[in-house]
Amino acid sequence: MKKLLALTCLLVLLIPIWAEGENKASCIVCHNSMAGTIELNGKVIELNVDAKRYEASVHGAFPCTECHERFSENPHVKPSGEVLEEVKVVSEKVAIKAKADPVAVAACYKCHPQVYDLVLNSVHGKNITEKGSADGALCLDCHGSPHYITTAKDESSPVNQWHVVETCGNCHENKELAKKYGIEAKVMESYRESFHGKKHILGHKRAPTCVSCHGYHAIKSKDDPVSPVFGTNKIKTCGGCHKGANKKFVAAITHQDAGPIPHYAEKGLIILTIFTIAFTVLHVILEAYADIRDTFFRRRKEEEHAESEEYTC
Ligand code: HEC
Ligand code: HEC
Ligand code: HEC
Ligand code: HEC
Ligand code: HEC
Ligand code: HEC
Ligand code: HEC
Repeated sequence: MKKLLALTCLLVLLIPIWAEGENKASCIVCHNSMAGTIELNGKVIELNVDAKRYEASVHGAFPCTECHERFSENPHVKPSGEVLEEVKVVSEKVAIKAKADPVAVAACYKCHPQVYDLVLNSVHGKNITEKGSADGALCLDCHGSPHYITTAKDESSPVNQWHVVETCGNCHENKELAKKYGIEAKVMESYRESFHGKKHILGHKRAPTCVSCHGYHAIKSKDDPVSPVFGTNKIKTCGGCHKGANKKFVAAITHQDAGPIPHYAEKGLIILTIFTIAFTVLHVILEAYADIRDTFFRRRKEEEHAESEEYTC
């Protein structure tokens, strides 16, 4: 009797798992074989979901409806499934960022609530929720396609140490956007030209990227007192890598225009180097010429001398 009860319990537990597995299978059978895009409310929707890449992602074991909560297996039925209350609240706040399914965009909240709250309270999140704009960054702007998310350590992740600068640059390279929000337009250029940026480009593992100084989920304006780049907070931020950083040291900031003096100093140094090399080369050539001439003339003179000696003898 006990055994039977246990077996029944197991079946009851397994049925939903099996059903969910089925659900993923049926969604993905269609979407893996589909190609191309459709237009929905003026936005371009990509229909293909690559089954192999999906399964290799951090969310690969989940059924599609874990995020697409309203979708049923029948694609011809208007999405209308139950949505978790907290997800519904978030989906209304971030709807402006969604192309096809605001519930899916908000569903990350269910499993990553702390991270989601940090982002909503960041300068990026407030741009969306308070200014009602789609310009600020939300999860997918940094993590890429929702179906192929991997950890930051993975080389293919857009937030990987070697790609994250480019990812921030997708928006911060945009001069129009910078102008719209009164942000310094040359942050990318100044980073790349800085000591740090140059080291990073050369593959120096400890050289800071944007997120080493600004953080990532909780990014704030430079004028916000809780920002890691605000005032004396910089002592701690720079101090993480530069032991003994003080007020004077942290004044040497990454985005500061280097000014005309270092610029001309660098150019001057290049010209000086070229002149030095040219002079050295010329010097070597002249010396070689002198050597050849000397040997040649000396030998001729010696020969002439020897000849004249022969005659005299
Ligand atoms: C029988 C094939 C088929 C199955 C099964 C299927 N889809 Fe689709 N799906 C489509 C087609 C076709 C479209 C394009 C619909 C259109 O033209 O509006 C689509 C569109 C979508 C879209 C884009 C938004 C929209 O409303 O059009 C999402 C998101 C989506 N499907 C998710 C899912 C999920 C999640 C499942 C499983 C629960 C699923 N699909 C199962 C064929 C399918
Ligand atoms: C981790 C959460 C998550 C899972 C799991 C997930 N999706 Fe999505 N999906 C999203 C989000 C977020 C979007 C973007 C919706 C938007 O912008 O409105 C999206 C968009 C889509 C779209 C429209 C593509 C586009 O260009 O916006 C399709 C089709 C789709 N998903 C199908 C699927 C299928 C099929 C599965 C299961 C194999 C699946 N999704 C699993 C989160 C998820
Ligand atoms: C401005 C870019 C940006 C946005 C927006 C963003 N992330 Fe991240 N996220 C990152 C970076 C960068 C890392 C990893 C940094 C590292 O470990 O090197 C990360 C790491 C993570 C991690 C791993 C744990 C951790 O905290 O390090 C999770 C989970 C995550 N993000 C989820 C989300 C979710 C959910 C959203 C949307 C609510 C989101 N992210 C929005 C940039 C972003
Ligand atoms: C049903 C729960 C669930 C949902 C919904 C969900 N995730 Fe995750 N997510 C997970 C789990 C579980 C992991 C794996 C954690 C681990 O391996 O440490 C993960 C891992 C991640 C990571 C990698 C973290 C790392 O360690 O680097 C990121 C980034 C991430 N999720 C972002 C998102 C985003 C963005 C969404 C919404 C589109 C989302 N997640 C929706 C459960 C979920
Ligand atoms: C070594 C630390 C450091 C690194 C690396 C760094 N920043 Fe900054 N960032 C700062 C500091 C400090 C400020 C404040 C500038 C000031 O005080 O004028 C700042 C300011 C900013 C601002 C506001 C500019 C303004 O004047 O309105 C933006 C936007 C910004 N950074 C983006 C980035 C991006 C994108 C990257 C990566 C390409 C990056 N930062 C890399 C330290 C850093
Ligand atoms: C989807 C576009 C987008 C992406 C991606 C993005 N940002 Fe932003 N960022 C913005 C917008 C828009 C603002 C201005 C928001 C406002 O003021 O309302 C902003 C503001 C900022 C500010 C505050 C500037 C100030 O006022 O001092 C910093 C710092 C910043 N971003 C850093 C980053 C970093 C670091 C990354 C990469 C990890 C990043 N951003 C990725 C769009 C983006
Ligand atoms: C993630 C680590 C990291 C952070 C954070 C960081 N730096 Fe650096 N910094 C480096 C590395 C690595 C070098 C190159 C050192 C070398 O190769 O000699 C460097 C070099 C420098 C140099 C030139 C060489 C020197 O040592 O005098 C200055 C100046 C500097 N950083 C200032 C700052 C300031 C100011 C901040 C904070 C706004 C900061 N750094 C934050 C890692 C960091």
